[in-house]
Amino acid sequence: MTRYGPDEHDVLIVGGGGAGLRAAIAVAEANPKLKIAVISKVYPMRSHTVSAEGGSAAVIKSNDSLDEHAYDTISGSDWLCDQNAVEEFVNEAPKELLQLEHWGCPWSREPDGSISVRSFGGMKIKRTWYAADKTGFHMLHTLFQTTMKYDRIHRYDEYFVTSLMVDDGRCQGVVAIELTTGKINAIAARSVILCTGGCGRVFPYTTNANIKSGDGMALAYRAGVPMKDMEFVQYHPTGLPFTGILITEAARAEGGYLLNKDGYRYLQDYDLGKPEPKPVLRSMELGPRDRLSQAFEKEHEKGQTIEGPFGPFVHLDIKHLGEDVINEKIPFVRELCLKYENIDPVKEYIPVRPVVHYMMGGIHTDIHGATPLEGLYAAGEAACVSINGANRLGSNSLTECLVFGARAGKAAAENASQGKSFSRNLEAIAMDEGRRIEKAYLSNRSGKTKNSESIVTIREEMHQAMKDGAGIFRTEKSLKESQNAIQELQDRLLRTSIGDTSYTFNTELTSAMELSYMLDVAEAVIQSALKRDESRGSHQRSDHPGRDDDKFLVHSLAYKTEKDLPRIDYLPVTITRWPPGERIYGR
Ligand code: FUM
Repeated sequence: MTRYGPDEHDVLIVGGGGAGLRAAIAVAEANPKLKIAVISKVYPMRSHTVSAEGGSAAVIKSNDSLDEHAYDTISGSDWLCDQNAVEEFVNEAPKELLQLEHWGCPWSREPDGSISVRSFGGMKIKRTWYAADKTGFHMLHTLFQTTMKYDRIHRYDEYFVTSLMVDDGRCQGVVAIELTTGKINAIAARSVILCTGGCGRVFPYTTNANIKSGDGMALAYRAGVPMKDMEFVQYHPTGLPFTGILITEAARAEGGYLLNKDGYRYLQDYDLGKPEPKPVLRSMELGPRDRLSQAFEKEHEKGQTIEGPFGPFVHLDIKHLGEDVINEKIPFVRELCLKYENIDPVKEYIPVRPVVHYMMGGIHTDIHGATPLEGLYAAGEAACVSINGANRLGSNSLTECLVFGARAGKAAAENASQGKSFSRNLEAIAMDEGRRIEKAYLSNRSGKTKNSESIVTIREEMHQAMKDGAGIFRTEKSLKESQNAIQELQDRLLRTSIGDTSYTFNTELTSAMELSYMLDVAEAVIQSALKRDESRGSHQRSDHPGRDDDKFLVHSLAYKTEKDLPRIDYLPVTITRWPPGERIYGR
């Protein structure tokens, strides 16, 4: 492979989704002299943000307040988020969404021209802005076209990042493969922002696009940065059974029901939280995601779900909303059902089940997106600031991409503006990385075929291990079994060899590297879950029911070790104004 000397930038953003593009704009606005680049393994408009549906939360109506938004977020998180971060978040959220409006985002509106808002799971007040049910698509378009105003934002489209370049105790760029040519590049930057999204693909059934393989998380983890709160994996209650495609919570916000095999609204039999003292806008179907997904599992244990070829499911009924409402408010739901299930939800039930949707945990950052490694920042789902704690509220994440993408951009710009010189070693680091890749995956090129393992088999076994051991309910036993399986798969991955030796779009090679990222992330999820002997939010330990604030009102930090399991450390949660209490929801 040809190796290039370093290209140099002030700020390099890895990932071209909502957080990445917002960060790029923030850097451009912060300092007109900075050279900026966005690197992504896909063309930015193919980033996963494009598939976000239901909406983005921010206070805009007079019946709402920043404190209400903060409280919903904090109680929804089962008190595990940092309240100082949440206060900054709710305060900056409306400004960010209005800013997006000024950049051209077509928010849905009321007949009087004001912004429309809808209810969303776990929110007491309607505060979710939306653009029908293609909100992510419109937000990403808006951000993408805004980045185009800046000539200084260079793009490396279809480049796969294989490692961070760390020298002299600071991150100074990345090594990346240009996918069209197979060339390995050293791309130097004074600040690097990881905005690579989550890692839902570690699990078999997920709303996440194939690209969400935890790349940024693993890159930071390998560079010594801890992963925070990785045990908290969000299941979305309504994914399509086989593909995992998201049927947005907006379908329930507009009035959809969840029905068991007897057509019964089974959620009324479950404890979704302490009943609310005053009447609320929401129905039981708009309870928080963790509780709804847990209720599904219990309903399945009772034999009340429907068996399908891809596991159990229940029905989402939106027929009573009528064709006009469906076409106006949630047209994408209809389109997805027609295309992927061959059913028309105007006349038929939609089969749904909980599927992995979001990682509350991620790269440990402060409220400016800075990681403990100098020069390295993170934002969006890849990061854990943390505002999501043990359970994120639907529609907070698109807003999080904007608020913390912008913050990380500003902080990274400030760091880069110091103009520190690059180390001389960067080209050598890239050459070492090229040799590592060649040796680890491409020994076929030199004719030395190893006793090869199939990456497809390893990936399937990883899925099985994560589903069986680290799903909605876990136990010490199930987690230990998954841990053993993942360790064995990590060893077996060392014995893989890539059959495809070409340099052009070698997707077998990138799949193998993505798999190695996923296995690293999986070990952090399992070890963090194993050490948390309590049940909180999305982390339900059947062998440790109940929340234990005395011992576990703390963030977990998973550090990669050389040969052993990850080391788990803890960090206090920041409480400002809302002491831990009971989660309260309406029925
Ligand atoms: O259901 C949804 O539209 C998902 C939204 C979210 O995760 O924020």
